[in-house]
Amino acid sequence: MLQGKKIVLGITGSIAAYKSCLIIRQLIKKGAEVQVVITPAGKEFITPITLSALTSKPVISEFFSQRDGTWHSHVDLGLWADAMLIAPATAATIGKMANGIADNMLITTYLSMKAPVFVAPAMDLDMYAHPSTQQNLKTLQSYGNHIIESGTGFLASKLEGKGRMEEPENIVASLESYFAGSCSMKGKKVLITAGPTYEKIDPVRFIGNYSSGKMGFALAEECARRGAQVELVCGPVSASMQAAHPGVHRIDVESAKEMHEACLSFFPSMDAAILCAAVADFAPETVAERKIKRTGDDMLIRLKPNPDIAASLGQIKEKHQTLVGFALETHDEEAHAQDKMKRKNFDFIVLNSLNDEGAGFRTDTNKISIISQAGKEDFPLKSKQEVAKDIVDRLNL
Ligand code: PMT
Repeated sequence: MLQGKKIVLGITGSIAAYKSCLIIRQLIKKGAEVQVVITPAGKEFITPITLSALTSKPVISEFFSQRDGTWHSHVDLGLWADAMLIAPATAATIGKMANGIADNMLITTYLSMKAPVFVAPAMDLDMYAHPSTQQNLKTLQSYGNHIIESGTGFLASKLEGKGRMEEPENIVASLESYFAGSCSMKGKKVLITAGPTYEKIDPVRFIGNYSSGKMGFALAEECARRGAQVELVCGPVSASMQAAHPGVHRIDVESAKEMHEACLSFFPSMDAAILCAAVADFAPETVAERKIKRTGDDMLIRLKPNPDIAASLGQIKEKHQTLVGFALETHDEEAHAQDKMKRKNFDFIVLNSLNDEGAGFRTDTNKISIISQAGKEDFPLKSKQEVAKDIVDRLNL
């Protein structure tokens, strides 16, 4: 899986830097080409001579080569690589990555990187457990970076043994499994809806909901990672929601009507659609042209039904197409999900309940059941990235 792959290995100032030699050895043994980019602090822990001897390439650390002033282009590296791995990644580097502080060659390379980025944190437990580190890791993950951690992952509640860099063989295995999955959906096209819809009341107010888009974006990234071409139709989400993978084409819409039109135009050429958006079922019957002023004690807004996107696609679905829906419920969860699956002609439906802690809107985690004709499968609480894998596995494309 790593044969011929070009890997940029970023090394930072951690005691675990010596383990990067083992990572390089294993990557090269598996046929990869490795280019090291090291931070100034990284060089305090391991010498560039050792690293260039192992990779058969000069190590890049400064913007200019000290000898002849040659300019090292981080942009070229960003285009050259099939993946970037930062191992070990210190709290300082993780913080700079999360906030775009481009004060060394490694960070500028990261910011120019077109390929997927893997980050193996290395620090002591207190630094790792600090809310700022945890927040920075979450930020990196929301940018589509892959965090490789020792233990069960930073989203788990237990922190024992955390912070220590994952063992080199497991880091290399993560890259291998990434590349193994990266062609399983090659040539396939998937439509994904994400986020909320906003239904205008007047120029300053709307009817909306709490969807952040995190679940839909995780699904888009996962399909693209497996080689699919993704049309991501997304409602108004925060500016921090970014689909990093070049295989994701994003179409921004605001209302259910706009989302409906976009989905209808894409769906006929798709192999599958996953409808994760929280679409408003109703919109104000009329939109006031000017801001509505307070007049009496109460106020009435008359609503009209929005188009049901899922049901429309369910009606025109062809045999070769797979249609997947979501159900967000607060009570009688399974019965409601079963009903939606039949009414909207879904091949399967993903049920998440607001009664489960860490599930549903805005969280980085979700707890789902997948319901199909074959029955019901329950999954434990996982990161939305892991949940996306479980869902995409079942597309059978
Ligand atoms: O975005 P996050 O903060 O990460 O939160 C994720 C989520 C909670 C929004 C997501 O996991 C989820 O459950 N999405 C569907 C929410 C929802 O609106 O469910 P529903 O039961 O109202 O709708 C059922 C299905 O029909 C959904 O696939 C929905 O996209 C679709 N639908 C609903 C109404 C409508 N007018 N058109 C539709 O296509």
